[in-house]
Amino acid sequence: MRKSQKSWIRDPSLAAEGARRIAWAEVRMPVLMAIRERFRRERPLEGIRVSACLHVTKETAALVRTLRDAGAEVALCASNPLSTQDDVAAALAEEGIAVYAFRGMSEEEYYEAIGRALSMKPNVTVDDGADLTVTVHKLAHRIQSPELEWVRRGLGSGALEVEGIAGGTEETTTGVIRLRALEREGKLLYPLIAVNDSPTKSLFDNPIGTGQSTIDAVIRATGILLAGKRVVVFGYGRVGSGIAARARGMGAEVIVVEVDPVKALSAAMNGYRVCSSLEAARVGDVFITATGNIRVIRREHMELMRDGAILANAGHYDVEISLQDLRDISVEVEQVNQYVKRYRTRDGRSLYLLAEGRLVNLVAAEGHPSEVMDLSFSLQALSVEHVVRNRGRLEVRVHDVPAEIDREVAMTKLRTMGIEIDRMTEEQVRYVSDWRMGT
Ligand SMILES: NC(=O)c1ccc[n+]([C@@H]2O[C@H](COP(=O)([O-])OP(=O)(O)OC[C@H]3O[C@@H](n4cnc5c(N)ncnc54)[C@H](O)[C@@H]3O)[C@@H](O)[C@H]2O)c1
Repeated sequence: MRKSQKSWIRDPSLAAEGARRIAWAEVRMPVLMAIRERFRRERPLEGIRVSACLHVTKETAALVRTLRDAGAEVALCASNPLSTQDDVAAALAEEGIAVYAFRGMSEEEYYEAIGRALSMKPNVTVDDGADLTVTVHKLAHRIQSPELEWVRRGLGSGALEVEGIAGGTEETTTGVIRLRALEREGKLLYPLIAVNDSPTKSLFDNPIGTGQSTIDAVIRATGILLAGKRVVVFGYGRVGSGIAARARGMGAEVIVVEVDPVKALSAAMNGYRVCSSLEAARVGDVFITATGNIRVIRREHMELMRDGAILANAGHYDVEISLQDLRDISVEVEQVNQYVKRYRTRDGRSLYLLAEGRLVNLVAAEGHPSEVMDLSFSLQALSVEHVVRNRGRLEVRVHDVPAEIDREVAMTKLRTMGIEIDRMTEEQVRYVSDWRMGT
Protein backbone atom coordinates (compact mmCIF):
# COMPACT_ATOMS: atom_id res chain seq x y z
CA MET A 1 0.00 0.00 0.00
CA ARG A 2 1.30 3.49 -0.77
CA LYS A 3 -0.26 6.40 1.07
CA SER A 4 1.08 9.87 0.37
CA GLN A 5 -0.24 13.37 0.04
CA LYS A 6 -1.06 12.77 -3.61
CA SER A 7 -2.09 9.16 -3.76
CA TRP A 8 -3.37 6.19 -1.81
CA ILE A 9 -3.04 3.10 -3.92
CA ARG A 10 -2.31 -0.61 -3.52
CA ASP A 11 0.93 -1.08 -5.44
CA PRO A 12 2.83 1.43 -7.62
CA SER A 13 4.66 -1.40 -9.39
CA LEU A 14 1.43 -2.30 -11.23
CA ALA A 15 1.62 0.95 -13.23
CA ALA A 16 3.00 -0.53 -16.46
CA GLU A 17 0.25 -3.17 -16.61
CA GLY A 18 -2.35 -0.46 -15.89
CA ALA A 19 -0.96 1.77 -18.65
CA ARG A 20 -1.22 -1.08 -21.16
CA ARG A 21 -4.84 -1.71 -20.22
CA ILE A 22 -5.72 1.99 -20.39
CA ALA A 23 -4.21 2.10 -23.89
CA TRP A 24 -6.36 -0.92 -24.83
CA ALA A 25 -9.47 0.91 -23.64
CA GLU A 26 -8.61 4.20 -25.36
CA VAL A 27 -8.37 2.52 -28.76
CA ARG A 28 -12.01 1.49 -28.27
CA MET A 29 -13.16 4.94 -27.19
CA PRO A 30 -12.85 7.01 -30.37
CA VAL A 31 -15.50 9.59 -29.44
CA LEU A 32 -13.77 10.41 -26.17
CA MET A 33 -10.42 10.55 -27.98
CA ALA A 34 -11.82 13.07 -30.48
CA ILE A 35 -13.06 15.18 -27.58
CA ARG A 36 -9.62 14.89 -25.99
CA GLU A 37 -8.00 16.19 -29.17
CA ARG A 38 -10.27 19.23 -29.14
CA PHE A 39 -9.76 19.73 -25.40
CA ARG A 40 -5.98 19.71 -25.93
CA ARG A 41 -6.33 22.54 -28.42
CA GLU A 42 -8.94 24.59 -26.59
CA ARG A 43 -8.09 23.84 -22.93
CA PRO A 44 -11.67 24.55 -21.73
CA LEU A 45 -10.90 23.39 -18.18
CA GLU A 46 -7.72 25.40 -17.67
CA GLY A 47 -7.23 25.99 -13.95
CA ILE A 48 -10.33 24.01 -12.97
CA ARG A 49 -10.16 21.50 -10.12
CA VAL A 50 -12.28 18.37 -10.58
CA SER A 51 -13.01 15.89 -7.77
CA ALA A 52 -14.21 12.64 -9.30
CA CYS A 53 -15.72 9.67 -7.49
CA LEU A 54 -15.93 6.89 -10.07
CA HIS A 55 -15.24 3.19 -10.42
CA VAL A 56 -11.50 3.21 -11.01
CA THR A 57 -11.39 1.26 -14.27
CA LYS A 58 -9.36 1.61 -17.46
CA GLU A 59 -12.26 3.53 -19.04
CA THR A 60 -12.40 5.95 -16.11
CA ALA A 61 -8.68 6.50 -16.61
CA ALA A 62 -9.44 7.50 -20.20
CA LEU A 63 -11.93 10.09 -18.92
CA VAL A 64 -9.60 11.41 -16.23
CA ARG A 65 -6.76 11.81 -18.74
CA THR A 66 -9.15 13.68 -21.05
CA LEU A 67 -10.14 16.11 -18.30
CA ARG A 68 -6.48 16.58 -17.43
CA ASP A 69 -5.61 17.32 -21.05
CA ALA A 70 -8.37 19.93 -21.05
CA GLY A 71 -6.41 21.77 -18.37
CA ALA A 72 -8.08 20.43 -15.23
CA GLU A 73 -6.41 19.23 -12.08
CA VAL A 74 -8.18 15.97 -11.19
CA ALA A 75 -8.45 14.07 -7.91
CA LEU A 76 -10.00 10.61 -8.18
CA CYS A 77 -11.49 8.41 -5.49
CA ALA A 78 -13.41 5.15 -5.83
CA SER A 79 -17.19 5.00 -6.05
CA ASN A 80 -17.20 1.51 -4.61
CA PRO A 81 -14.79 -0.16 -2.17
CA LEU A 82 -14.45 -3.30 -4.30
CA SER A 83 -14.43 -2.08 -7.90
CA THR A 84 -11.01 -0.46 -8.17
CA GLN A 85 -8.57 -1.92 -10.69
CA ASP A 86 -5.30 -1.48 -8.77
CA ASP A 87 -3.12 -1.47 -11.88
CA VAL A 88 -5.15 1.40 -13.35
CA ALA A 89 -4.93 3.36 -10.09
CA ALA A 90 -1.14 2.84 -10.13
CA ALA A 91 -0.84 4.01 -13.75
CA LEU A 92 -2.80 7.19 -13.06
CA ALA A 93 -0.79 7.92 -9.92
CA GLU A 94 2.42 7.52 -11.93
CA GLU A 95 1.13 10.14 -14.36
CA GLY A 96 0.80 12.53 -11.41
CA ILE A 97 -2.96 12.33 -10.99
CA ALA A 98 -4.16 12.29 -7.39
CA VAL A 99 -5.73 8.84 -6.90
CA TYR A 100 -7.17 7.64 -3.62
CA ALA A 101 -8.43 4.15 -4.38
CA PHE A 102 -7.53 0.53 -3.90
CA ARG A 103 -9.56 -2.63 -4.17
CA GLY A 104 -10.92 -3.88 -0.86
CA MET A 105 -11.07 -0.57 1.03
CA SER A 106 -12.92 -0.63 4.34
CA GLU A 107 -15.91 1.68 4.70
CA GLU A 108 -13.75 3.95 6.81
CA GLU A 109 -11.03 4.13 4.16
CA TYR A 110 -13.64 4.64 1.45
CA TYR A 111 -14.97 7.79 3.11
CA GLU A 112 -11.51 9.03 4.05
CA ALA A 113 -10.65 8.76 0.34
CA ILE A 114 -13.71 10.86 -0.53
CA GLY A 115 -12.47 13.45 1.99
CA ARG A 116 -9.05 13.42 0.33
CA ALA A 117 -10.55 13.89 -3.13
CA LEU A 118 -12.50 16.86 -1.76
CA SER A 119 -9.49 18.37 -0.03
CA MET A 120 -8.42 19.89 -3.38
CA LYS A 121 -11.42 22.28 -3.05
CA PRO A 122 -13.07 21.30 -6.32
CA ASN A 123 -14.78 23.56 -8.83
CA VAL A 124 -16.58 20.57 -10.37
CA THR A 125 -17.69 17.23 -8.90
CA VAL A 126 -18.07 14.11 -11.04
CA ASP A 127 -19.88 11.30 -9.29
CA ASP A 128 -21.22 7.77 -9.69
CA GLY A 129 -23.81 7.01 -7.01
CA ALA A 130 -23.67 10.47 -5.39
CA ASP A 131 -21.54 9.57 -2.36
CA LEU A 132 -19.19 12.47 -3.09
CA THR A 133 -21.95 14.96 -3.87
CA VAL A 134 -24.00 13.92 -0.85
CA THR A 135 -20.90 14.23 1.33
CA VAL A 136 -20.42 17.82 0.14
CA HIS A 137 -24.06 18.56 0.97
CA LYS A 138 -23.92 16.92 4.39
CA LEU A 139 -20.82 18.92 5.28
CA ALA A 140 -22.26 22.18 4.00
CA HIS A 141 -25.63 21.70 5.70
CA ARG A 142 -23.87 20.50 8.87
CA ILE A 143 -25.87 17.30 8.88
CA GLN A 144 -24.58 14.80 11.43
CA SER A 145 -23.65 11.47 9.91
CA PRO A 146 -21.23 8.85 11.23
CA GLU A 147 -19.11 8.60 8.06
CA LEU A 148 -18.28 12.32 8.16
CA GLU A 149 -15.72 11.68 10.86
CA TRP A 150 -13.73 9.64 8.30
CA VAL A 151 -14.39 12.19 5.57
CA ARG A 152 -12.97 14.93 7.79
CA ARG A 153 -9.84 12.88 8.38
CA GLY A 154 -9.31 12.85 4.61
CA LEU A 155 -10.26 16.49 4.22
CA GLY A 156 -7.54 17.58 6.62
CA SER A 157 -7.43 21.07 8.03
CA GLY A 158 -8.88 22.91 5.02
CA ALA A 159 -12.60 23.57 5.03
CA LEU A 160 -14.65 22.70 1.99
CA GLU A 161 -15.70 25.75 -0.04
CA VAL A 162 -19.06 24.97 -1.61
CA GLU A 163 -19.21 28.47 -3.14
CA GLY A 164 -16.28 27.46 -5.34
CA ILE A 165 -18.20 24.57 -6.89
CA ALA A 166 -19.62 25.58 -10.28
CA GLY A 167 -21.54 22.34 -10.74
CA GLY A 168 -21.30 18.63 -11.05
CA THR A 169 -22.36 15.54 -12.94
CA GLU A 170 -23.90 12.21 -11.93
CA GLU A 171 -23.38 8.92 -13.73
CA THR A 172 -25.95 6.47 -12.39
CA THR A 173 -29.64 5.96 -11.63
CA THR A 174 -29.19 5.59 -7.88
CA GLY A 175 -27.14 8.80 -7.76
CA VAL A 176 -29.73 10.77 -9.73
CA ILE A 177 -32.47 9.51 -7.38
CA ARG A 178 -30.49 10.88 -4.42
CA LEU A 179 -29.89 14.22 -6.16
CA ARG A 180 -33.57 14.61 -6.98
CA ALA A 181 -34.39 13.92 -3.32
CA LEU A 182 -31.95 16.69 -2.32
CA GLU A 183 -33.58 18.99 -4.87
CA ARG A 184 -37.10 18.17 -3.59
CA GLU A 185 -36.08 19.09 -0.07
CA GLY A 186 -34.67 22.42 -1.33
CA LYS A 187 -31.18 21.46 -0.15
CA LEU A 188 -29.34 21.32 -3.46
CA LEU A 189 -26.40 23.74 -3.38
CA TYR A 190 -25.13 23.74 -6.95
CA PRO A 191 -26.32 22.68 -10.42
CA LEU A 192 -25.95 19.03 -11.31
CA ILE A 193 -26.22 17.28 -14.65
CA ALA A 194 -27.96 13.90 -14.66
CA VAL A 195 -25.73 12.20 -17.22
CA ASN A 196 -27.48 8.91 -16.40
CA ASP A 197 -30.79 10.09 -17.76
CA SER A 198 -29.64 11.16 -21.21
CA PRO A 199 -30.68 8.76 -23.98
CA THR A 200 -27.13 8.27 -25.23
CA LYS A 201 -26.28 6.96 -21.76
CA SER A 202 -29.27 5.06 -20.52
CA LEU A 203 -30.15 3.31 -23.79
CA PHE A 204 -26.68 1.82 -24.02
CA ASP A 205 -24.71 1.86 -20.78
CA ASN A 206 -27.48 0.57 -18.49
CA PRO A 207 -28.90 -2.26 -20.60
CA ILE A 208 -26.10 -3.13 -23.00
CA GLY A 209 -23.02 -2.42 -20.88
CA THR A 210 -24.44 -3.84 -17.66
CA GLY A 211 -26.17 -6.64 -19.54
CA GLN A 212 -22.99 -8.00 -21.04
CA SER A 213 -20.67 -7.33 -18.11
CA THR A 214 -23.05 -8.84 -15.56
CA ILE A 215 -23.28 -12.08 -17.50
CA ASP A 216 -19.50 -11.91 -17.99
CA ALA A 217 -19.06 -11.56 -14.22
CA VAL A 218 -21.36 -14.45 -13.32
CA ILE A 219 -19.46 -16.68 -15.74
CA ARG A 220 -16.01 -15.51 -14.63
CA ALA A 221 -16.90 -16.02 -10.97
CA THR A 222 -18.61 -19.40 -11.30
CA GLY A 223 -17.86 -20.87 -14.71
CA ILE A 224 -21.42 -22.20 -14.84
CA LEU A 225 -23.27 -23.01 -18.04
CA LEU A 226 -26.13 -20.57 -18.43
CA ALA A 227 -27.93 -22.60 -21.06
CA GLY A 228 -30.84 -24.40 -19.45
CA LYS A 229 -30.56 -22.49 -16.16
CA ARG A 230 -33.40 -20.52 -14.70
CA VAL A 231 -32.15 -16.99 -14.24
CA VAL A 232 -34.36 -14.72 -12.14
CA VAL A 233 -33.92 -11.01 -12.82
CA PHE A 234 -35.30 -8.61 -10.21
CA GLY A 235 -36.23 -5.31 -11.83
CA TYR A 236 -37.03 -4.99 -15.53
CA GLY A 237 -35.82 -1.41 -15.85
CA ARG A 238 -32.98 -0.16 -18.00
CA VAL A 239 -30.39 -2.46 -16.41
CA GLY A 240 -32.59 -5.48 -15.71
CA SER A 241 -34.03 -5.62 -19.22
CA GLY A 242 -30.49 -5.76 -20.61
CA ILE A 243 -29.45 -8.54 -18.25
CA ALA A 244 -32.62 -10.49 -19.08
CA ALA A 245 -32.00 -10.21 -22.83
CA ARG A 246 -28.39 -11.33 -22.56
CA ALA A 247 -29.16 -14.22 -20.20
CA ARG A 248 -31.80 -15.37 -22.67
CA GLY A 249 -29.23 -15.08 -25.45
CA MET A 250 -27.05 -17.52 -23.55
CA GLY A 251 -29.86 -20.05 -23.49
CA ALA A 252 -31.18 -19.43 -20.00
CA GLU A 253 -34.86 -19.49 -19.13
CA VAL A 254 -35.38 -15.99 -17.75
CA ILE A 255 -37.92 -15.14 -15.07
CA VAL A 256 -38.65 -11.51 -14.23
CA VAL A 257 -39.80 -10.10 -10.89
CA GLU A 258 -41.18 -6.55 -10.92
CA VAL A 259 -43.24 -4.15 -8.80
CA ASP A 260 -44.20 -1.80 -11.64
CA PRO A 261 -47.16 -3.13 -13.66
CA VAL A 262 -46.03 -1.47 -16.90
CA LYS A 263 -42.53 -2.92 -16.65
CA ALA A 264 -43.96 -6.31 -15.69
CA LEU A 265 -46.28 -6.22 -18.70
CA SER A 266 -43.41 -5.22 -20.94
CA ALA A 267 -41.37 -8.20 -19.67
CA ALA A 268 -44.32 -10.54 -20.21
CA MET A 269 -44.89 -9.26 -23.76
CA ASN A 270 -41.20 -9.67 -24.50
CA GLY A 271 -41.68 -13.35 -23.78
CA TYR A 272 -40.34 -13.66 -20.24
CA ARG A 273 -42.07 -15.52 -17.48
CA VAL A 274 -43.15 -12.93 -14.89
CA CYS A 275 -44.09 -14.01 -11.39
CA SER A 276 -43.92 -13.05 -7.74
CA SER A 277 -40.59 -13.05 -5.94
CA LEU A 278 -41.68 -15.95 -3.72
CA GLU A 279 -42.62 -18.11 -6.68
CA ALA A 280 -39.37 -17.22 -8.45
CA ALA A 281 -37.37 -18.03 -5.31
CA ARG A 282 -38.60 -21.64 -5.42
CA VAL A 283 -37.52 -22.31 -9.00
CA GLY A 284 -34.50 -20.12 -9.80
CA ASP A 285 -30.92 -21.29 -10.23
CA VAL A 286 -29.34 -17.83 -10.53
CA PHE A 287 -30.81 -14.65 -8.99
CA ILE A 288 -29.69 -11.21 -10.17
CA THR A 289 -30.98 -7.97 -8.64
CA ALA A 290 -31.09 -4.74 -10.65
CA THR A 291 -33.67 -2.59 -8.88
CA GLY A 292 -31.78 0.18 -7.06
CA ASN A 293 -33.96 -0.82 -4.10
CA ILE A 294 -33.30 -2.30 -0.68
CA ARG A 295 -33.75 -5.90 0.66
CA VAL A 296 -35.23 -7.17 -2.57
CA ILE A 297 -33.96 -10.67 -1.82
CA ARG A 298 -34.46 -11.38 1.85
CA ARG A 299 -34.94 -14.20 4.33
CA GLU A 300 -38.36 -15.30 3.08
CA HIS A 301 -36.87 -15.83 -0.37
CA MET A 302 -33.66 -17.43 0.83
CA GLU A 303 -35.62 -19.98 2.83
CA LEU A 304 -37.34 -21.16 -0.35
CA MET A 305 -34.30 -21.30 -2.62
CA ARG A 306 -32.96 -24.53 -3.99
CA ASP A 307 -29.68 -26.01 -2.87
CA GLY A 308 -26.91 -24.50 -4.99
CA ALA A 309 -28.69 -21.24 -5.86
CA ILE A 310 -26.42 -18.39 -6.95
CA LEU A 311 -27.12 -14.79 -5.85
CA ALA A 312 -25.69 -11.69 -7.50
CA ASN A 313 -26.44 -7.98 -7.58
CA ALA A 314 -26.01 -5.49 -10.42
CA GLY A 315 -27.62 -2.51 -8.68
CA HIS A 316 -25.49 0.30 -7.33
CA TYR A 317 -25.39 -0.56 -3.63
CA ASP A 318 -24.91 -3.81 -1.75
CA VAL A 319 -28.34 -3.55 -0.15
CA GLU A 320 -30.47 -5.40 -2.70
CA ILE A 321 -29.62 -8.83 -1.29
CA SER A 322 -29.97 -8.78 2.49
CA LEU A 323 -26.55 -9.92 3.66
CA GLN A 324 -27.74 -9.84 7.25
CA ASP A 325 -30.52 -12.34 6.46
CA LEU A 326 -28.08 -14.54 4.60
CA ARG A 327 -25.81 -14.59 7.66
CA ASP A 328 -28.75 -15.19 9.99
CA ILE A 329 -29.92 -18.33 8.21
CA SER A 330 -26.43 -19.77 7.84
CA VAL A 331 -24.34 -21.95 10.10
CA GLU A 332 -21.17 -21.71 8.08
CA VAL A 333 -19.64 -19.34 5.53
CA GLU A 334 -16.83 -20.40 3.26
CA GLN A 335 -14.91 -18.46 0.59
CA VAL A 336 -15.07 -20.75 -2.45
CA ASN A 337 -12.97 -18.54 -4.69
CA GLN A 338 -12.12 -14.84 -4.90
CA TYR A 339 -15.66 -13.84 -5.84
CA VAL A 340 -17.87 -16.61 -4.47
CA LYS A 341 -18.94 -17.17 -0.87
CA ARG A 342 -20.84 -20.27 0.12
CA TYR A 343 -23.45 -19.90 2.86
CA ARG A 344 -24.47 -23.23 4.37
CA THR A 345 -27.97 -22.89 5.81
CA ARG A 346 -29.32 -24.55 8.94
CA ASP A 347 -31.31 -26.96 6.81
CA GLY A 348 -28.19 -28.05 4.93
CA ARG A 349 -28.51 -26.13 1.65
CA SER A 350 -25.74 -24.09 0.06
CA LEU A 351 -26.42 -20.61 -1.28
CA TYR A 352 -23.63 -18.92 -3.19
CA LEU A 353 -23.18 -15.15 -3.00
CA LEU A 354 -21.12 -13.41 -5.68
CA ALA A 355 -18.92 -10.37 -5.10
CA GLU A 356 -20.15 -9.75 -1.53
CA GLY A 357 -23.46 -8.57 -2.99
CA ARG A 358 -21.74 -5.54 -4.55
CA LEU A 359 -22.26 -4.71 -8.19
CA VAL A 360 -21.05 -7.93 -9.66
CA ASN A 361 -20.02 -6.64 -13.09
CA LEU A 362 -17.45 -4.30 -11.61
CA VAL A 363 -16.16 -6.62 -8.92
CA ALA A 364 -15.98 -10.00 -10.63
CA ALA A 365 -15.50 -8.63 -14.16
CA GLU A 366 -14.10 -5.37 -15.53
CA GLY A 367 -17.27 -3.31 -15.70
CA HIS A 368 -18.74 -2.12 -18.95
CA PRO A 369 -16.83 -2.69 -22.16
CA SER A 370 -14.89 0.35 -23.35
CA GLU A 371 -17.08 0.82 -26.44
CA VAL A 372 -20.06 1.57 -24.20
CA MET A 373 -18.14 3.73 -21.77
CA ASP A 374 -17.03 5.75 -24.81
CA LEU A 375 -20.60 7.08 -24.88
CA SER A 376 -21.10 7.59 -21.13
CA PHE A 377 -17.74 9.22 -20.56
CA SER A 378 -17.96 11.40 -23.66
CA LEU A 379 -21.20 12.72 -22.18
CA GLN A 380 -19.38 13.21 -18.87
CA ALA A 381 -16.50 15.11 -20.48
CA LEU A 382 -18.83 17.38 -22.46
CA SER A 383 -21.09 17.90 -19.45
CA VAL A 384 -18.13 19.02 -17.34
CA GLU A 385 -17.17 21.41 -20.14
CA HIS A 386 -20.79 22.66 -20.24
CA VAL A 387 -20.78 23.30 -16.47
CA VAL A 388 -17.51 25.23 -16.68
CA ARG A 389 -18.43 27.26 -19.76
CA ASN A 390 -21.74 28.21 -18.09
CA ARG A 391 -20.28 28.83 -14.65
CA GLY A 392 -22.59 31.00 -12.57
CA ARG A 393 -25.35 30.87 -15.20
CA LEU A 394 -26.90 27.44 -14.57
CA GLU A 395 -29.89 27.31 -12.27
CA VAL A 396 -29.30 25.33 -9.07
CA ARG A 397 -31.26 22.19 -9.92
CA VAL A 398 -30.82 18.78 -11.53
CA HIS A 399 -30.41 19.36 -15.27
CA ASP A 400 -30.65 17.01 -18.23
CA VAL A 401 -27.64 16.75 -20.48
CA PRO A 402 -28.27 19.38 -23.19
CA ALA A 403 -29.87 17.70 -26.21
CA GLU A 404 -27.11 19.00 -28.55
CA ILE A 405 -24.48 17.15 -26.50
CA ASP A 406 -26.50 13.96 -26.60
CA ARG A 407 -26.91 14.19 -30.37
CA GLU A 408 -23.30 15.13 -30.95
CA VAL A 409 -22.06 12.08 -29.03
CA ALA A 410 -24.45 9.75 -30.84
CA MET A 411 -23.56 11.20 -34.26
CA THR A 412 -19.82 10.96 -33.63
CA LYS A 413 -20.18 7.38 -32.41
CA LEU A 414 -22.10 6.45 -35.55
CA ARG A 415 -19.40 8.05 -37.69
CA THR A 416 -16.68 6.09 -35.90
CA MET A 417 -18.69 2.92 -36.53
CA GLY A 418 -18.88 3.75 -40.24
CA ILE A 419 -22.64 4.16 -40.10
CA GLU A 420 -24.41 6.85 -42.10
CA ILE A 421 -27.97 7.87 -41.38
CA ASP A 422 -30.57 9.72 -43.39
CA ARG A 423 -31.73 13.30 -43.00
CA MET A 424 -35.35 14.29 -43.38
CA THR A 425 -36.25 16.04 -46.63
CA GLU A 426 -37.54 19.63 -46.45
CA GLU A 427 -40.99 18.27 -47.15
CA GLN A 428 -40.71 15.80 -44.28
CA VAL A 429 -39.52 18.47 -41.86
CA ARG A 430 -42.59 20.54 -42.78
CA TYR A 431 -44.87 17.52 -42.52
CA VAL A 432 -43.80 16.51 -39.02
CA SER A 433 -44.07 20.04 -37.69
CA ASP A 434 -47.42 21.07 -39.15
CA TRP A 435 -50.72 20.31 -37.41
CA ARG A 436 -52.81 21.10 -40.50
CA MET A 437 -51.74 18.13 -42.57
CA GLY A 438 -53.87 14.99 -42.27
CA THR A 439 -55.04 12.42 -44.78
N1 LIG B 1 -23.79 -2.39 -12.38
C1 LIG B 1 -23.68 -1.35 -13.16
O1 LIG B 1 -22.67 -1.17 -13.83
C2 LIG B 1 -24.80 -0.38 -13.25
C3 LIG B 1 -24.94 0.43 -14.40
C4 LIG B 1 -26.03 1.30 -14.47
C5 LIG B 1 -26.92 1.38 -13.41
N2 LIG B 1 -26.71 0.61 -12.28
C6 LIG B 1 -27.63 0.62 -11.14
O2 LIG B 1 -28.62 -0.37 -11.36
C7 LIG B 1 -29.81 -0.02 -10.63
C8 LIG B 1 -31.00 -0.02 -11.58
O3 LIG B 1 -30.83 1.00 -12.55
P1 LIG B 1 -31.85 1.20 -13.77
O4 LIG B 1 -31.27 2.29 -14.59
O5 LIG B 1 -32.19 -0.10 -14.37
O6 LIG B 1 -33.12 1.75 -12.96
P2 LIG B 1 -34.64 1.69 -13.48
O7 LIG B 1 -35.38 2.65 -12.61
O8 LIG B 1 -34.70 1.85 -14.95
O9 LIG B 1 -35.10 0.19 -13.15
C9 LIG B 1 -35.28 -0.33 -11.86
C10 LIG B 1 -36.48 -1.28 -11.92
O10 LIG B 1 -36.55 -2.01 -10.68
C11 LIG B 1 -37.94 -2.14 -10.35
N3 LIG B 1 -38.04 -2.40 -8.91
C12 LIG B 1 -37.94 -1.52 -7.88
N4 LIG B 1 -38.13 -2.17 -6.71
C13 LIG B 1 -38.33 -3.47 -7.00
C14 LIG B 1 -38.58 -4.64 -6.21
N5 LIG B 1 -38.66 -4.58 -4.89
N6 LIG B 1 -38.73 -5.82 -6.86
C15 LIG B 1 -38.67 -5.91 -8.21
N7 LIG B 1 -38.45 -4.83 -9.01
C16 LIG B 1 -38.27 -3.63 -8.41
C17 LIG B 1 -38.55 -0.83 -10.78
O11 LIG B 1 -39.94 -0.94 -10.96
C18 LIG B 1 -37.81 -0.55 -12.10
O12 LIG B 1 -38.50 -1.08 -13.22
C19 LIG B 1 -29.50 1.33 -9.99
O13 LIG B 1 -29.01 1.12 -8.69
C20 LIG B 1 -28.38 1.88 -10.88
O14 LIG B 1 -27.64 2.87 -10.24
C21 LIG B 1 -25.69 -0.28 -12.21
